[in-house]
Amino acid sequence: ALVSAKEMLEKAHAGHYAVGQFNINNLEWTKMILLACEEAKSPVILGVSEGAGKYMTGYKTVVAMVEAMVESLGITVPVALHLDHGSYEGAKAALEAGFSSIMFDGSHYPFEENLEKSKEIIELCHSKGVSVECEVGAIGGEEDGVVGSGEVADPQECKVIADLGVDMLAAGIGNIHGKYPENWAGLNFDVLGQIQDVTSGKPLVLHGGSGIPTDQIKKAISLGVSKINVNTELQLVFADATRKYIEAGKDLEGKGYDPRKLLAPGCDAIKAEVLNKVKEFGSEGQA
Ligand code: G3H
Ligand code: ZN
Repeated sequence: ALVSAKEMLEKAHAGHYAVGQFNINNLEWTKMILLACEEAKSPVILGVSEGAGKYMTGYKTVVAMVEAMVESLGITVPVALHLDHGSYEGAKAALEAGFSSIMFDGSHYPFEENLEKSKEIIELCHSKGVSVECEVGAIGGEEDGVVGSGEVADPQECKVIADLGVDMLAAGIGNIHGKYPENWAGLNFDVLGQIQDVTSGKPLVLHGGSGIPTDQIKKAISLGVSKINVNTELQLVFADATRKYIEAGKDLEGKGYDPRKLLAPGCDAIKAEVLNKVKEFGSEGQA
């Protein structure tokens, strides 16, 4: 069965490692991430953006697919199904459909409105045992058409949201969705440290986890980051492996155009990358 992310993140925070949130798009993504985390004995959070939810024909389909796959693959590690960057309406819809964890991203609202809506979503989700992530400040870059300003979070605003009883807190600290530019200034560890201090040890979430150097990942974890979101990197390794397969003409040999063969190199690449990440994040062997 799917579990809330609360317990796995509290354990991660206490144990100084982070749990990966790997975003899914379809059956292949879901299967390879689950297989990798089972092999590594790592807890896992499957992230679903609103766009990916629509692509997979709706939250109900996603819940049914993930629940059935966890069972049919014999997955024993804790699995949370998490709405990524949910809107106010999307959060309610995903909760209704059976997601076990929800992000309400009200970062584009004026703070008072973000606070009010976050409070309501937290109460609603907690009444069903579902964990909640909220966002303060903004993640830079674009994900699924959602563009963030990259505004660095105000630690005092973080404290106010943390005090609502949110289970995990995402804060803009110079992190960016998608590929990082050459001249990226890096994560703002001063602000991250201040946020952890004023939120008295709340598990923090690092968005834009693709392409951050390992030393910065480790430092972020040491400052309270307990969940790291990875989306773009799995898309890049999948596309790269698929491109190589096609460019080598393998799709024309034998029955190489059979989707089960055509998509296999990309699937293997996703699994290998997830295994790398759970090692880097330190969640390997923690389930
Ligand atoms: O919410 C999802 C993540 O923040 C993904 O970021 O695509 O840069 O890995 P990424
Ligand atoms: Zn994100």
